[in-house]
Amino acid sequence: EKGGYDYFMLKEIAEQPRAVADTLLGRIGTDGRLTLDEMRISDQALREIDKIIIVACGTSYHAGMIAKYAIEHWAGLPCEVELASEFRYRDPILTRSTLVIAISQSGETMDALMAVRHAREQHARVLGICNVNGSTLPRECDGVLYTHAGPEIAVASTKAFLTQLVAVYLIALYLAQVRGTKWGDEVFAMVQLLSGMPDKVEKVLETMGPVRELARSLADEHCVLFLGRHVGYPVAMEGALKLKELAYMHAEGFAAGELKHGPIALIEDGLPVVVVVPPRARAVLHDKIVSNIQEIRARGARTIVIAEEGDTSVQPYADTLIEVPAVPTLLQPLVTTVPLQVFACELATAKGHDVDQPRNLAKSVTVE
Ligand code: F6R
Repeated sequence: EKGGYDYFMLKEIAEQPRAVADTLLGRIGTDGRLTLDEMRISDQALREIDKIIIVACGTSYHAGMIAKYAIEHWAGLPCEVELASEFRYRDPILTRSTLVIAISQSGETMDALMAVRHAREQHARVLGICNVNGSTLPRECDGVLYTHAGPEIAVASTKAFLTQLVAVYLIALYLAQVRGTKWGDEVFAMVQLLSGMPDKVEKVLETMGPVRELARSLADEHCVLFLGRHVGYPVAMEGALKLKELAYMHAEGFAAGELKHGPIALIEDGLPVVVVVPPRARAVLHDKIVSNIQEIRARGARTIVIAEEGDTSVQPYADTLIEVPAVPTLLQPLVTTVPLQVFACELATAKGHDVDQPRNLAKSVTVE
């Protein structure tokens, strides 16, 4: 059942191009317009929304963080992201025109379910993004958008995460379409590019040999830091989470702009630091992170740089350069996350850990 792989996690990483394609399937019309019929929330209701709050846990929360950038940019709606476990313990301001989006692979995460119940009690509309048909969460939401990753068996989420990203991109673009915001060239172009993403993910998977080799060489390290900006920041957090849960190593993801506000003090000789570089097209962001790489390298960090192919500006400062296909900034997490999954999986395996069953963790967390 592992399809020839040693671990389900390896199989699930390899399935990502298919999972992304399946989640797009039937949702993009030949005219480039999106249809999300099964969502069960009317276009009229979506036009009346004035705020979005996303609730989720763990890896799904990182998908939510990325959703915020996409929704604010394409749909022009204010969007907050909150850990589901924190949401109902403050006093979130919810009205009938608030859309709460709950993201959960399993649909059984108790923290996410409690957040959904709390939101509904306050009369907000609730949309679920879920991978498991017939699970609890979709039943408690007004509407649902299913991801089509297929069953995810390994405890660490990989293919479900990529499909959650596809789902949030679809929602952001759909909101732009029904609300008429920015619907036009940019959104149309994005939909086209989105349908090309399975191939880009496949390309990344084909070039993972050096990433595996690098991971094995770092098996005796105690700490790895991850840096990113914009949507690269949640990707950095996701890379760190994977390493914690699989390799039991101290790992942390930072927003690169925060370095000088504290974390740079952690940099010492030989410390591996993974940096997610935005596309060159986002010149300001890109150049800022290139100077961050220079700063940490000057202080002895061993820099592992993930950048788009042909980005020669980072080469002089990268001890290891991992190239990914060039895609627009907002879509970049679909390609930059994959090397981080492979990295954590390989490093943990090199340490002799069972990556499908990390210690102390369960696939569905059905307690609060
Ligand atoms: C990390 C991981 C967890 C889950 C989290 C939420 O690899 O798998 O952090 O993402 O427990 O689970 P779902 O999405 O099922 O609500």
